[in-house]
This record gives sequence, structure tokens and C-alpha cells, in this order.
Amino acid sequence: MASNAKNVGILAMEIYFPPTCVQQEALEAHDGVSRGKYTIGLGQDCMSFCTEVEDVISMSLTAVTSLLEKYKIDPKQIGRLEVGSESVIDKSKSIKTFLMQAFEETGNTDIEGVDSTNACYGGTAALFNCVNWVESCSWDGRYGLVVCTDNATKRLIALLNCHYTIFWTNSFHMCPRISDTEIFTLSRFEQFSGVKVYAEGPARPTGGAAAIAMLIGPDAPIAFESKLRGSHMSHAYDFYKPNLASEYPVVDGKLSQTCYLMALDSCYKRFCERFEILEGRPFSMSDAEYFVFHSPYNKLVQKSFARLYFNDFLKSTRGNLLLANHGRPPNLISSFVDEVAREKLTPFSALSGDESFQSRDLEKVTQQVAKHLYDAKVQPTTLIPKQVGNMYTASLYAAFVSLVHNKHTSLVGKRVVMFSYGSGLTATMFSFQLRHCRHPFSLSNIATVMNVSGKLKSRHEFAPEKFVETLKLMEHRYGAKDFVTSKDTSVLAPGTYYLTEVDSMYRRFYAKKSEDITKNPTNAL
Ligand code: ACO
Repeated sequence: MASNAKNVGILAMEIYFPPTCVQQEALEAHDGVSRGKYTIGLGQDCMSFCTEVEDVISMSLTAVTSLLEKYKIDPKQIGRLEVGSESVIDKSKSIKTFLMQAFEETGNTDIEGVDSTNACYGGTAALFNCVNWVESCSWDGRYGLVVCTDNATKRLIALLNCHYTIFWTNSFHMCPRISDTEIFTLSRFEQFSGVKVYAEGPARPTGGAAAIAMLIGPDAPIAFESKLRGSHMSHAYDFYKPNLASEYPVVDGKLSQTCYLMALDSCYKRFCERFEILEGRPFSMSDAEYFVFHSPYNKLVQKSFARLYFNDFLKSTRGNLLLANHGRPPNLISSFVDEVAREKLTPFSALSGDESFQSRDLEKVTQQVAKHLYDAKVQPTTLIPKQVGNMYTASLYAAFVSLVHNKHTSLVGKRVVMFSYGSGLTATMFSFQLRHCRHPFSLSNIATVMNVSGKLKSRHEFAPEKFVETLKLMEHRYGAKDFVTSKDTSVLAPGTYYLTEVDSMYRRFYAKKSEDITKNPTNAL
């Protein structure tokens, strides 16, 4: 049975990303790659990263408490708290339970929900859980709260030049000569797979870090079109974190790109089918004002939008052919694809699905013919992912935050399509309708509270050497106990939470930098 809640969705948002960052251009020079590889080739400008005083828990505490304070939400009004993250700090204790510290002091311990994990998709799973709760008969009238958080700045262990069929047919836990305990010995892996493995690889510029908090309830300015969803989930080894003693993922970068684009195709197809059932007419890109993508790096977002354009081209071409065969006039299927684009894309229309994913020419031509639409429908969503990097679970929602930041005055009445992807793999395409709501839940107030420009401007740039040094310290500290941090909060904004200590029992302790710098600088939790 459903609740009576209508227009359930996101009422309020807050974003936090670390104030420490490294310029991608400086990283190119430091890493000795060709100039433009990270900035033009991957389309990234800058990358935020956590220093030793920040982690996913401190970032989440900052985002949650800031949201509650700035929108004046009494913590007792929260009835469900869901966290999406793949930055596991503890295999048993959820990040959600750390966040309970912000609610316990008001006496509210009656809050359902725990963590959801599957690569970059966990945040979407957490969001769906909250929305479904408000729409269900279990809803008690209180707000839901969703947190997406990850620290994705790592020295990735990258598997390169590896054709993905190796993984489908010969995944290494299936190899009889490698014992369980040996699975993650890199030299053994290289020996059996023929794949090159190295630590400071090309995946490093695709890191990032952030936490995003979202308040969920009825009559929302960012309302879910709950029946309009298309998912694609399957088994793949494109990006995974099998070594529980390390926070670094094992990545087959090329495979992850292909998996992402294949999942996008599949979700778009299902999303369009649902739309057609509900609306009685085909969906095309003209039916949405903006498209927001999970953004590991901007070039993949450009390729993704181009892929949707190619899908619309194929759909309209095949649709028109079908109509012609039935003696009916063409163009009944709405499409953005103009004559020039049609001419350029026609040579690719006979490619099989697999061939179309491998065709570099198709990739180039579609990006070129879709460019003007990309500028209108996607570019306003790219600011934070380009500036902060891949925030994993927070990445899609940071792209959406960019859209609210850039376009909040003109979003009411518009449909926004979202594409969430998590390696392994899980993906969903869904949509929002943007609505007029009163303060404090108006789109303009959400933009004001998030203060994206202010947060980006007040960041501190680190030299690549200092960035690498920080990563080494973080690597050393991962899973460690019995240490105190420097407690250096000089670059943190007032009100930011930070890690002070991990004791001999692995218990983590945090403090909050005082809002009033003339007073005691910290409040320990
Ligand atoms: N100037 C301009 N462009 C350049 C330059 C240069 N000097 N050098 C290279 N390029 C271009 C390349 O032509 C290529 O463009 P294309 O994609 O249009 O062909 C692009 O830069 C990337 O170059 P590659 O050589 O393909 O990059 P590399 O092998 O170093 O790896 C990759 C890129 C696979 C994205 C790597 O960074 C990675 O593994 N990242 C992590 C995995 C990932 O993010 N996957 C995405 C989905 S899964 C997830 O979200 C985690």
C-alpha cells in the first residue's frame, strides 16, 4: 500500500568537498604525460582530495549538520537516514551509525536505514530507498535524509591494455592454479592474465572526494517521476576492490568505459520503453531539458551524450523505415537529428551493437554532430565534476548540484534525466520534474545554501609533490590504529568536522572546527 505523499523527491541539498586540490595541468607535468592529456583528453580541470584530517565520515558529518542548520530542520524530524558509499572504513559498522552522533544529542535514535554499497551506484540505491519509504505505507510523516560520500583520490591499481573478454571467460578467481590466498599477488596476476599491473597509473587523475546530503520528502522542488526508470545490472570485473587490506581498486579502465556505455544504452532503451507505455508516444532527447551523467571524467560524459544521440538517430531511422513499409509518412517519431547529422551518421547505421562500441570514427562523428546539444543540455551540469573530480557515489549528484547552481532561475517545469552507473555493474536511468516550492525549499535557496562558487573559490591549491606525499600518508594510515592526526585545521572552513585520532581499538574520533574563530577552535565529538 502506498502513502498519500505526492511529488516525492529532494527538498534540500548540501555539498561538501575538501578545500585542498591539485590542478590537472600541474599533474600532467608532474606525471610526465603529454600536455593536455588530463585537461583535454579526459576533460578534467582540477581534483579535490582529503588530507589526513578528513575522510568520508568527517565530510558526511559536515554535510549533514550544515544541511540541518541552514534549512532549519530539527534533527527529530528525520525518520530515515541512508548512506551510499564505496569507501569502506569498517566492514561491519556503517557510516550511518557514525552520523547518528548528530541526532542522538537531540534524543532521536528512532532512525531507520544503513549503508548501501556498489561502487558509484550506492548513492542512487540510498536515494531510491528513501523515496520508496516516503511513498510507502511504512512512512511516518518524517523526512528522509540521504548521504552520498566517497574519497576517490587514490593510487589506483590499473589493469591496462586488457581486452574485456579475458575477464568474462578467464576471471582470475576461476583460474585453477591460483589459490584464494594468492589471488591478489600482483606478480601472480600478471603471470596468469598477461595483463600489466602497476600502481601509479593513468587512473590517478580520475580521483576526487565529496559528501552530498539530500533531504527527502513530499511536495519537493526536485520531484521523482517514480514510474519512469530503466535499469541494467550484470556481472563484470571492470572496477572492484577485492583486496580488503587496501582501499585501492583494481581497474580495467577500457573495460569500465565499455561497460558504462553499454549500460547507458540498455538503460536508455528501457527508460524510453517505460515513457512510451506511460505517455503513448516515443521518447526522444527533446523530451528532457537536461541530461545528468555519472561523471568519472568529463570526456566520458561527452561520449555518453553522443551515444544517446546515436540511439535517437537509430530509433528514428528504423521507426521511419517501419512507417514507410506500412505506407505511412515519416517523421512521426520526434527526433532532434537534423539532415546534416543524419547524413553523417547513416554510414554507421548498419553496425552491430558491439561494432558500434568499438568504432572510433562513430565516437568522433557523434560527438561532433551532438556538440550544440551537449552545450545546451549537458554543459551546465559539468562544473563540479570537472573541478572536483570523480566523487564516486556523489559524482552524479554533484553534476546535478552544478545544474541547480547554474540554472536555478529557469528550471521550474523542466524534466531532467539522470544516469547512475556503478561498476561491477549496476546502472539506472531515472528522471526528475523541477517544481516551484516555497522557502526554504525553493531552487534558488538550495543554490544559495550550497554556495558552490564560494566553496570552489576558497580552495587551496597544492603542488603535485605535496598531493603525492599526502596520498602516501593516507595509504600508510589506511586500516591503521593508534595514531593521532596533526589536527591541522588551518585550511578548513569553520563548522567543518575533522579526524583527530584513531585509538588502539580502531575507534575513530572527530571534532568540529568552531564556527566562531575567536572561541575555542574545536568541539570534540
Ligand atoms: N592531448 C589531448 N588529448 C589526449 C592527449 C593529449 N596530450 N593524450 C591523450 N589524449 C586523449 C586520448 O586520445 C583519449 O581520448 P579519447 O577517449 O577520445 O580516445 C583520452 O585522452 C584518454 O587517453 P587514453 O590514452 O585512452 O587514457 P588512459 O589509457 O591513460 O586511461 C582511463 C584513461 C581509462 C579513463 C583511465 O584514466 C582510468 O582507468 N580511469 C579509471 C576508470 C574509470 O574512471 N572508468 C569510468 C567508468 S567506472 C568509474 O566510474 C570508476
